[in-house]
Amino acid sequence: VPENIRSMLDAHELLKKFYHHLLVNTAEGQHALEYLLNRGFSKESIEKFQIGYSLPSWDFAANLLKKRGFEQDVMEKSGLVIKKERDGTYFDRFRDRIMFPIFDHQGSTIAFSGRSLGADEPKYLNSPETAIFNKSKILYNFSRARPSIRKQQQAVLFEGFADVIAADRSGVENGVATMGTSLTDEHISILKRNVESVIICYDSDNAGIEAAYRAATALGEAGCTVKVAVMPEGLDPDDYIRRHGDDKFKKDVIGSSLTLMSFKMLYFRRGKNLQNEGDRLQYIEEVLAEIARLEKAVEKDLYLRQLAGEFSLSLDALSQQVKEVQSPPS
Ligand code: UTP
Ligand code: MN
Ligand code: MN
Ligand code: MN
Ligand code: MN
Repeated sequence: VPENIRSMLDAHELLKKFYHHLLVNTAEGQHALEYLLNRGFSKESIEKFQIGYSLPSWDFAANLLKKRGFEQDVMEKSGLVIKKERDGTYFDRFRDRIMFPIFDHQGSTIAFSGRSLGADEPKYLNSPETAIFNKSKILYNFSRARPSIRKQQQAVLFEGFADVIAADRSGVENGVATMGTSLTDEHISILKRNVESVIICYDSDNAGIEAAYRAATALGEAGCTVKVAVMPEGLDPDDYIRRHGDDKFKKDVIGSSLTLMSFKMLYFRRGKNLQNEGDRLQYIEEVLAEIARLEKAVEKDLYLRQLAGEFSLSLDALSQQVKEVQSPPS
């Protein structure tokens, strides 16, 4: 391992321990700890995920790292401190935030995400891309979840930290997060190498539903068995668990997740009034286009019959239209 990389990793390890200590053992961290406990984070989760707190100081980390002999320009490249152009001094990137260490897939700390305690923007401040952190290649919690993912041959994909941690506490230990909403090709190949099946459990808001549709489509095209867990509009998994409890989350959300086709049908219905003829026709066309893409004849038949039954259409007409979608008449 090159020296600069070693030094960046060591600095992250050191700060992870300090931030955690500040959160759980000091008066300065008391209000942050109360914030987390009030939000339903357990003491066990705080330990397991090594959550911490960064002081409202401009130079706590900068001074600590300097005192411990870390080169300041290397620390700047690691994203932990920022250089002031005016006088060439360094100040802390993370101040007065709840600190979530981000681990690589072997479990080393390679970045942080800091959540503001109030209304400060951004809500989550992340480490920049560095020589040790490439967000598009990292799934949060993969190193901890791997044994459970392998054993169950299934992973649950969330948007964020709070969701993974709440799900873990509820007993869903095979959860990982994209830390935002875009699932990259690299994420997909990590999942493909480890599991057959993925359950997408994104937030039930517009952004989350759109992202779930894109992620589900991409994972499906990559050959994964995809399911999508849906929750009442407006909630995210962490909200849902707090409101409805662990058992309902496992049974009514994870255990009742929809097949890819059922999710797409639900997705195509959004914003449509199926009593309206134009909307109804558009919906039927969207579903037919999906059916045309299915590989298995049995599946095609199943969904065609379902569609025919639902709208009192003749199966012949629908089958004919599917054939035309597949090979348009020239
Ligand atoms: P959400 O906005 O859904 O936040 O973003 P959340 O996870 O529900 O957070 P809480 O419950 O309000 O604390 C989902 C994920 O997107 C990333 C984070 O990883 C977050 O967990 N994100 C969000 C950012 O990186 N920056 C942001 O400003 C917001
Ligand atoms: Mn501890
Ligand atoms: Mn969200
Ligand atoms: Mn959310
Ligand atoms: Mn949330």
